[in-house]
Amino acid sequence: MTAELLQKRWSPRSYTGETIDDEQIGLLFEAARWAPSSMNEQPWSYYYALRSDNEKFEKFLECLKPGNPVWAKNASILIIGVARKHFTSNGKPNRHYLHDTGSASSMIALQATAMGMQAHQMGGFYMDKTIEMLNLDPDKYEPSSFIAVGYQAGPDLLPDDIRKKETAPRSRKDINEFVYK
Ligand SMILES: Cc1cc2nc3c(=O)[nH]c(=O)nc-3n(C[C@H](O)[C@H](O)[C@H](O)COP(=O)(O)O)c2cc1C
Repeated sequence: MTAELLQKRWSPRSYTGETIDDEQIGLLFEAARWAPSSMNEQPWSYYYALRSDNEKFEKFLECLKPGNPVWAKNASILIIGVARKHFTSNGKPNRHYLHDTGSASSMIALQATAMGMQAHQMGGFYMDKTIEMLNLDPDKYEPSSFIAVGYQAGPDLLPDDIRKKETAPRSRKDINEFVYK
């Protein structure tokens, strides 16, 4: 059996929108802290906006491509993972920057599941707009994904097309399609 936490994790689109507190937020990012990374560089940084902070939350939503804001607007928190492109020790390119940031983001997702919430990552965002909103230097930093986190709600709250996706069976490749001996 795969670990129970892995069985429980998925990426829902229906969220209650309820508020989460500082302790919960801290635990999500604490999980990212412990992700493995090349040379222990920890190239990730995270920016977040709480749903309760309407103005900032709206700015995050505006960076998402169509199809995402319609459900992500009910997450409790929107997080943006940002990857640093170079090693801090010697300034050389770190070719694992997106890999390791994605790995840290998976930790956040699993921690959310362990806390009774779920997380849904999104690559569907406007890169230039996000870089501008966060005031990043694109030579040094690259947003990797948005992460919506919150308590799951029922599929009935979603518009028809999204409800269909929410209730569709989850699919995966067979192990023999991606594992070679
Ligand atoms: C890097 C990344 C980008 C993704 N982008 C989107 C997205 O823009 N919109 C969306 O609805 N889901 C997005 N997803 C969620 C995937 O569609 C989802 O993880 C996949 O279908 C597997 O479903 P599961 O997470 O429920 O197991 C993204 C996931 C990852 C890891």
